[in-house]
Amino acid sequence: MSSLTFARSAFPDGFTFGAATSAYQIEGHAHGGAGPTHWDSFAATPGNVVRAEDGARACDHYHRWESDLDLIRDAGFDSYRFSTSWARVLPEGRGAPNPEGLDFYDRLVDGMLERGIKPFATLYHWELPQPLADLGGWRNRDIADWFADFTTLIMGRIGDRVHAAAPINEPWCVGWLSHFMGLHAPGLRDIRATARAMHHVLLAHGRSIQAMRALGMDNLGAVMNFEYPFPADDSPEAAQAARTYDGYYNRWFLSGVLKKGYPADVLAGLGPHMPTGWQDDFDTIATPVDWLGVNYYTCKRIAPRPDQPWPHLEEVPGPLPKTAMDWEIYPDGLHHFLTWIHREFDSGLPIYVTENGMASYDELQDGAVPDPARIDYLNSHLGAVQRAIADGVPVAGYFIWSLMDNYEWALGYEKRFGLVHVDFDTLERTPKASWHALAKALRA
Ligand code: FCB
Repeated sequence: MSSLTFARSAFPDGFTFGAATSAYQIEGHAHGGAGPTHWDSFAATPGNVVRAEDGARACDHYHRWESDLDLIRDAGFDSYRFSTSWARVLPEGRGAPNPEGLDFYDRLVDGMLERGIKPFATLYHWELPQPLADLGGWRNRDIADWFADFTTLIMGRIGDRVHAAAPINEPWCVGWLSHFMGLHAPGLRDIRATARAMHHVLLAHGRSIQAMRALGMDNLGAVMNFEYPFPADDSPEAAQAARTYDGYYNRWFLSGVLKKGYPADVLAGLGPHMPTGWQDDFDTIATPVDWLGVNYYTCKRIAPRPDQPWPHLEEVPGPLPKTAMDWEIYPDGLHHFLTWIHREFDSGLPIYVTENGMASYDELQDGAVPDPARIDYLNSHLGAVQRAIADGVPVAGYFIWSLMDNYEWALGYEKRFGLVHVDFDTLERTPKASWHALAKALRA
């Protein structure tokens, strides 16, 4: 059997190991009085999601949260990164709260504390209430106010007990993937909508941090995703294309939050489409945070497309071994981003790896689920984290995506990222070999 090669003692004192999930991907949105979200509408539209699957039932975590928390505790994790569903707490997005929704997160946080697990909350992991999407969603500047109000409501209830909190998961996915590529809800392919979403998502982030500070909370962060862009060949045009990709993927959001500005090479494309007055929002956007979260999975190969409008590029396949997502496995990219962020943005802030993991075609075999590729993936990426720490980067923790197999958005239920296997007919949970290997390494 493969095993994990690290020991806790190889990481600094207090280093946090955790597992991550998100609300819509696991809870079962049909239960408990949650309101409709743009993911429900997106999934109900043919061609958007594999088999038109949605999060109505998901892993039924809404009813099984206690035994799911036991799985986190029994693996030896210190922390659990979960998210709160805006539409569960505020079915209309604004106005009257759903008491059942507030009670659910209250019990969940208490359940973590009873098990000695530190709650790491994300306020928004993509299930925008449909009534707010009807008003333009992330294209509407008012979303910053709506989100600040939701922040005050949910954190007014659980903020006294969460260990750490971040407003928004992966602003690149909220902005670019959902409004430019059209691959996530609301499924737009529109550069003007993209520019607005790319800005409003940061404005909402800043307002949410301010709302949590006003409640007296600390240990607040920003969680962003990163991909390592290789030029597809040796030409100067490919180098330029990779640089542009790096700009709107990796530099835009960090620059907003830590440098009070956007990269010029991205403004070259988005500038004409930005909302009026965007230049005046950076004092809010750059409201100080206490830590940074890095979500990292893969690298991409970027080729120039001068025949196309800005950003004049396309992704092409690469040569490295791939996961079930068709994502190349490139642990050096994680080391790159940890060291680059620390050096380039010079914030001195602790950095958590808030997501890292892989999908594989895991199957139950005589009651066990062998997943040796995931164990290898974790070994190589934890090795990259150790190298970054040795290079002086203050990495404070590492969260695995994901605790259990779940709703992988547009790819439905067939991409299995879990340490725990879920049978989506019976909903039975079976810890995979990687879960057992982690329990052994973390509890040693
Ligand atoms: C990240 C998302 C998470 C999951 C993983 C595979 O971008 O935050 O919800 O889909 O990718």
